[in-house]
This record gives sequence, structure tokens and C-alpha cells, in this order.
Amino acid sequence: MSHRPIIALDLPSKEAVADFLAKFPKTESLYVKVGMELFYQEGPEIVRWLKAAGHSVFLDLKLHDIPNTVEHAMKGLAKLGVDMTNVHAAGGIKMMESAKRGLEAGKDEGCPTPVLIAVTQLTSTSEAEMHHDQLIEVSLKESVQHYAKCAETAGLNGVVCSAQEVALIKEKTSSSFVCLTPGIRPSGSDAGDQKRVMTPAQAAEIGSNYIVVGRPITQAEEPYQAYLTIKKEWNGEK
Ligand code: C5P
Repeated sequence: MSHRPIIALDLPSKEAVADFLAKFPKTESLYVKVGMELFYQEGPEIVRWLKAAGHSVFLDLKLHDIPNTVEHAMKGLAKLGVDMTNVHAAGGIKMMESAKRGLEAGKDEGCPTPVLIAVTQLTSTSEAEMHHDQLIEVSLKESVQHYAKCAETAGLNGVVCSAQEVALIKEKTSSSFVCLTPGIRPSGSDAGDQKRVMTPAQAAEIGSNYIVVGRPITQAEEPYQAYLTIKKEWNGEK
């Protein structure tokens, strides 16, 4: 099966999601990202509903709490059937190990453990802010690499990062460690508020393993066509 771009469902309600998904053929199994906005409005039911419709779900809640709490929260998220979820690497190696244990404990028997990735430094954080707010004295690049190494040590599958960070992360981690990159724009489209964007083809070229695409699909006049074009470009098809 060719790789599916992950569609960021940055929409305010289940109704808005239903309207959006109605523009796709019913048989098309999508990979969607549910973030805080939608999850905190609609609760766990939104995940069950998407899964029942045959879609894969990346639940982007970026957990960051004491290991025990994260472990139990992850157990619950695995029971929902999420395919991928994430934590903040700043929570520490023990917290990340607990997150993974929770997912393994909560998943259905016979199902794979959900993919678990870490946020290193948020891409909204500047180097100056990191020095000032977090009192981290190394460069932003070193901090991102260090957090990626911690995630790998804890047994996580990979990290969320900007496409510009993929090379430096791959430099320090094993070949199976994955990078998921948002900030993707098909050639010729509007970057919106994203500062540094890459096309799906460029993301594939630099070794990104998953791409997240929101507005170029959700705001397109013909979302299904936009999706297919991005998917083709991502898979290197003409
Ligand atoms: O609409 P757009 O394609 O810009 O959406 C990108 C998605 O990826 C959004 O859900 C956004 O919150 C998320 N994201 C991002 N940059 C990051 C981390 C997450 O754009 N560094």
C-alpha cells in the first residue's frame, strides 16, 4: 500500500469533520490527525467514530506529566484504538518508557502497539526563548538531537519535527527511528502561517517517514483531489 499523508483535522466539531469527510469516497481509508482542539470538544468518542469508519488515527495530545499518570493515560488511549500518539520528550526518559508501557498494556491483543513519538523542542520555540525560558545553554539543534536520542533510548518510534530537522535527527539515531513532519505545502500553494515549508516530494527526499498536511487539504475547493495530488507526490508517483 502506498503511504498516506496524515490529514490534520483542525476542525472545531464532529459535524465539521463529518462534512469534510463526506467529500471523500466512503471506501477511502484515511490517516487523520486529531489534535487538542477537536479532542477536548468531542472527547474520546471522536476517535472511536473515526476508527469505526475505517480510518487510522494519530492522536496528537502531547502528553507531559509524571510517569504514573502518563502510563495510565496511555493505557486508555490505546484502548481507543489509536494508531499513533505522542508525548513531550521534556517529560524525561522514565516518562517516555512509562508511556510506552501504558500503550502496550492497553492495546487489543493481536494488534500492533500504537506508534509512539516525541515532541523535542516545539518548532514555535526560538533558540533565544529556549535559552531564556528553559535555561538550556546548548544550541537548539543540540537540544533537538538530545531529546531525539532520549526518545530512542526510551524505546519510542521517533519524533515530530520540522522538515529542516530531519537530517540532524537521522544523523544521531538508528535507521528505523522515524521523523514525522508537518509544515508541508504542495508546490505553488499558500504557506499560510507556516514559515519554513517543504513540498511532499522534498519531504520524501530528505527521509521524512510521515507527513502531516492540514489546510492544503481541509481548505481546498476539492479536498479529495488535493489529497490525491499530495499523496502521489509523497509516493513519488507521476
Ligand atoms: O494546516 P497545516 O498543514 O499548516 O497544519 C499542520 C498541522 O501540524 C497542524 O495541526 C499543526 O498544529 C501541526 N504542527 C505544525 N508544526 C509543528 C507541530 C505541529 O504545524 N511543529
